[in-house]
Amino acid sequence: MRRLFPVTDPAPNATDTDREWPLAELAALYAYPEPLPEAGVLRANMVTTLDGAAFHDGRSQGISGPGDMRVFGVLRALADVVVVGAGTARGERYRPAKAREAFAAARAERGQAPAAAIAVVSASLDLDFTLPLFTEPVVPTLVLTGAEAPAERVAAARRQLAEGGPQLLGRLIAADTVDELCLTVSPFLTAGDASRIAHAPQALTTPARLRPASILAEDGFLFTRYVRDTAA
Ligand SMILES: NC(=O)c1ccc[n+]([C@@H]2O[C@H](COP(=O)([O-])OP(=O)(O)OC[C@H]3O[C@@H](n4cnc5c(N)ncnc54)[C@H](OP(=O)(O)O)[C@@H]3O)[C@@H](O)[C@H]2O)c1
Repeated sequence: MRRLFPVTDPAPNATDTDREWPLAELAALYAYPEPLPEAGVLRANMVTTLDGAAFHDGRSQGISGPGDMRVFGVLRALADVVVVGAGTARGERYRPAKAREAFAAARAERGQAPAAAIAVVSASLDLDFTLPLFTEPVVPTLVLTGAEAPAERVAAARRQLAEGGPQLLGRLIAADTVDELCLTVSPFLTAGDASRIAHAPQALTTPARLRPASILAEDGFLFTRYVRDTAA
């Protein structure tokens, strides 16, 4: 993995060299802003093919790769809560987030639970509550459903990570709530009718502009992080 942006070497066209990035270094690159804004930070993490598909054969696995999974794991390890649409929780057979030894000390220092809680957004509540996601989590899984949503539980989670899918992310963007987007561009073309990473019945009146905070590259994949100016 190497860093394309920001460039640390002042030489023209310089880039970082290819090397293994220790998890701690990746975690430092993707750290949430300190101090955290009062309202917290909502970061989204998605992967897209070159032609804009958010999944292949109904799953994102086929358009992901080892580097993407490493970044995915680091982003989870930094979050208080992972917010996911019920479509993704059902389709990707979501399991509870794991407590990982590599991140235990840093999480404890930040006053975080050993693993992020998963919060599933669902209107229908068509969820299988006998699955490990609900029966075996390190931190109890939340279900957010319309007027019943425990808003105080969500507000208490200040480092939020939305892992999609496109319907949920579309609504979060349309509500102008997304502070950051960590987008992996994977080196595939798929055509087909897979949706792009976000869609909602309505678009923002004025497109929200983000600025690049970092771009890493590995094995043809680009790992981008874009932020609103209110975030880091
Ligand atoms: N490329 C990526 O990074 C990425 C990431 C995640 C998922 N995916 C892929 O995306 C696909 C699934 O995405 P999707 O767009 O169909 O589903 P989704 O966004 O994961 O979930 C949609 C569901 O979430 C619930 N929901 C969303 N907004 C809501 C709101 N405002 N209020 C109440 N409930 C709400 C509803 O659940 P109910 O139906 O239960 O009411 C809705 O049907 C899968 O193929 C998955 O592999 C790709």
